[in-house]
Amino acid sequence: MQEIPVIDLSSLGNRQEARATAVGQIADACRNWGFFQVVNHGIPEHQIEKVWEVTADFFRLEMAEKRKISRSRDNAWGYFDRELTKNARDQKEIFDFAKPPSQGLPDSAGNRWPAGLADFRTVLEQYFKNCERLSARILQGFSLGLDLPADRLAGYFGADHTSFMRLNHYPLVDPLAGGEVDEAPPLGDMALHHHTDAGALTVLLQDDVGGLQVERSGEWIDIAPRKGALVINIGDMSQVWSNDRYRAALHRVRPVLGRARYSIPFFYNPGYDSLIQPLETMVGDGAKYAPFTWGEFRKKRADGDFADYGTEVQIRDYRKPE
Ligand code: OGA
Ligand code: NI
Repeated sequence: MQEIPVIDLSSLGNRQEARATAVGQIADACRNWGFFQVVNHGIPEHQIEKVWEVTADFFRLEMAEKRKISRSRDNAWGYFDRELTKNARDQKEIFDFAKPPSQGLPDSAGNRWPAGLADFRTVLEQYFKNCERLSARILQGFSLGLDLPADRLAGYFGADHTSFMRLNHYPLVDPLAGGEVDEAPPLGDMALHHHTDAGALTVLLQDDVGGLQVERSGEWIDIAPRKGALVINIGDMSQVWSNDRYRAALHRVRPVLGRARYSIPFFYNPGYDSLIQPLETMVGDGAKYAPFTWGEFRKKRADGDFADYGTEVQIRDYRKPE
């Protein structure tokens, strides 16, 4: 049985030799899998337990309560129950929120919080901060793994980075109960259809149900839940920076019979104005992508999420002709 690598992060950021092991493992995992799990990642277990509690509390709310904070065309944050991937509806409901505003600034991100859930916002905002920190460390591993200085990629993630967090609930029954199902696009055969994540990297917390799979050499490989571990995967932007040395792997969630599932991805995304292109040291045989801004790519992706039909933009559309 093949399994994605499990990497101990306790040495990352420590002594040079110790760090080299973790960096080598990260670089190999990024090349061969685009996915790995991390342990000793520094996010406390008790915080993760709180995150699970508030997540369950939220999805248990009455539908009418959740819909009060529904996503809209002009504000992507909040609750949503008809997400599309690959033009088929995924059987899930989600809650998205963006980076909390920096101190003293208004909540410009437009985050919407449910009324009456005491700890929901504070718990999630704290976990968000820890995911930011962890992502920055892993990004240093990506840079070092490409023989670049540790901070080579940090500049894309200043105060204006556009990371966001998503709570996923894959319920046993279609959340669009009754008549509404008729107006909605048809459900596909997957809980979440195959896709790559668009940003730099994703930190995923999954529960113990299973169903997450990564594609490798044409096969779908299960990513077994591992207590205390977080799943990390490469996004399209890291694939571009590395000029295809690192791969943004396709992944999906197959339905698991008889069990509802929860997962919480944190998408680590650059600032909208960041100009993305293969790094200078990676283009010996020619750059495989022409430069583009993250904002432009992200917007085209998001348009695909809202449209019922049409093709969603993919990173391969930005590849230069061979
Ligand atoms: C995603 C994703 C995986 C999961 O939301 O992009 O890949 O386990 N989720 O739910
Ligand atoms: Ni994903």
